[in-house]
Amino acid sequence: MSRPASLSAAAAAGVAALVAALLLLQPEDVGQGASVSMAETESLPKLREDFRMQNKSVFILGASGETGRVLLKEILEQGLFSKVTLIGRRKLTLDEEAYKNVNQEVVDFEKLDDYASAFQGHDVGFCCLGTTRKKAGAEGFVRVDRDYVLKSAELAKSGGCKHFNLLSSKGADKSSNFLYLQVKGEVEARVEELKFDRYSIFRPGVLLCDRQESRPGEWLVRKFFGSLPESWASGHSVPVITVVRAMLNNAVRPSDKKKELLDNKAIHDLGKADDSLKP
Ligand SMILES: NC(=O)c1ccc[n+]([C@@H]2O[C@H](COP(=O)([O-])OP(=O)(O)OC[C@H]3O[C@@H](n4cnc5c(N)ncnc54)[C@H](OP(=O)(O)O)[C@@H]3O)[C@@H](O)[C@H]2O)c1
Repeated sequence: MSRPASLSAAAAAGVAALVAALLLLQPEDVGQGASVSMAETESLPKLREDFRMQNKSVFILGASGETGRVLLKEILEQGLFSKVTLIGRRKLTLDEEAYKNVNQEVVDFEKLDDYASAFQGHDVGFCCLGTTRKKAGAEGFVRVDRDYVLKSAELAKSGGCKHFNLLSSKGADKSSNFLYLQVKGEVEARVEELKFDRYSIFRPGVLLCDRQESRPGEWLVRKFFGSLPESWASGHSVPVITVVRAMLNNAVRPSDKKKELLDNKAIHDLGKADDSLKP
């Protein structure tokens, strides 16, 4: 008896996602020192204030996605930038008052050179773009996660961006045999060649969020991590809000390093730094 196609597809997605999860269970990437000292934590409010005074502008790629939209919300709540621009393939409906000053640039990612002006004049850029092999096929995945990201970074650099932030993935490795990890590693390396004044790479494990889009495989992986002891699960997964706070806490602290690599542990530590200030 043949199984319904949807069931087979869900099972295949589940297996693929579990394989991906197992890949993520490898030892932590060699990233930047994770610990955040109490002095650093206590200095965060002042760093934010100093940062605000600089009236910087920012762009976000992928602001309609799970991480990008939390990042946008947090940027507005913290009031860190004087100008916020979203660069995406479609205009987002942002009705709430808090979003009234957000600029939107709608671009065709297949002809990005025609939209170079969208990338001009931003001090800081965050890239949360990405798709999945299931959604876009292998070629489509490479097109988005490597080509669109790289071209956007090139245009941002030419447009004057000083600090580029790339949301990558735990296990990213340009010599990996697994397409996902290989592409993530390759794009990390190729963006580095652009020589931004500051380049920050974030390598989270499985992102924990209430995804609006149905992804049964990812749901299964989340259940899998949910069944593990908390200390173990947090080594391989991270809530989206923690990633976003780590990105912003990192952005406001001055750095003389050209490249920073924040692994899952560093993301947890920096993203939750403010929690220790709460009574
Ligand atoms: N999910 C995880 O557990 C996990 C773990 C580690 C790392 N990551 C990485 O983290 C990044 C963000 O993940 P996420 O889950 O927040 O992403 P997401 O929710 O899937 O959002 C992806 C964003 O990319 C845009 N995008 C996708 N395909 C596009 C295309 N063909 N052309 C233009 N824009 C396109 C989407 O725009 P539309 O809304 O217009 O589609 C959306 O804004 C990705 O690079 C992902 O690989 C994810």
